[in-house]
Amino acid sequence: MSIKLKSVNFSYENHQVLKNVNIEFLPQKIHVLLGPSGGGKSSLLRLLNALMDPNSGDISYINTVYSQTHPKDIRKKIGMVFQKPALFDGTVYDNLIWSMKVQKLPIDKTKIENMLSQLDIPTDYLDKEIENLSVGEQQRICIVRTLLANPDVILFDEPTSALDPQRSKKVLELIKQINTQYQKTIILVSHDIDTAIDIADTVTFLHDGHVLFHGTKEHFLNSDNEIITNFKHGK
Ligand SMILES: Nc1ncnc2c1ncn2[C@@H]1O[C@H](COP(=O)(O)OP(=O)(O)OP(=O)(O)O)[C@@H](O)[C@H]1O
Ligand SMILES: [Mg+2]
Repeated sequence: MSIKLKSVNFSYENHQVLKNVNIEFLPQKIHVLLGPSGGGKSSLLRLLNALMDPNSGDISYINTVYSQTHPKDIRKKIGMVFQKPALFDGTVYDNLIWSMKVQKLPIDKTKIENMLSQLDIPTDYLDKEIENLSVGEQQRICIVRTLLANPDVILFDEPTSALDPQRSKKVLELIKQINTQYQKTIILVSHDIDTAIDIADTVTFLHDGHVLFHGTKEHFLNSDNEIITNFKHGK
């Protein structure tokens, strides 16, 4: 059930962004991607969400190679939450049921209410208009919406960058809860380095398109690589 990247190279036109990336993300863990701006973190997530294709190398999930699978089928298993909450005008409920409506799937309001309660989000939110929620609340609704589609893996690209520290912490706690309660594999890019490392099982450090480190958070915290040490000290 792991996601594997094998010798993955990716370029935007003639600018090579990911260079010979080899990583295995084990299931049901929280994997945090760190590294300086421009290192290739978002590009890696976009490849994992089948929004773009590598120039060479393979990505596979449960032994199915991406290049031989329809992107839609990949996205059913591997969902993504973006930096800015992507919701439309209407109520929270309208937003949460949208994909079920489009796919003509049965809508189970009790299931949605139960999920909100389990995640400590008041169920009376369902009738609130999206525009009346704070950005942090909107981001939590985006996360619930992704979770309702029941993917195995959820990719997060800086889900807290628009939030103040207190709200960021709440969103990261929700991500941790989703991992433990629903056994979802999480791959998270975050600039909240300390809080992200707190909830991480593994850390991948991308620098200029290279994987400088991939391993447990304990090993990462003890790494004496100069670039990583400078990054940890905010230099
Ligand atoms: N659509 C694009 N077209 C061309 N170049 C791009 C595009 N998107 C990103 N890049 C370039 O690819 C490189 C990697 O970008 P990417 O967004 O993956 O980095 P990142 O690690 O997510 O950075 P940040 O921490 O700032 O979000 C950068 O040099 C960036 O300028
Ligand atoms: Mg990015």
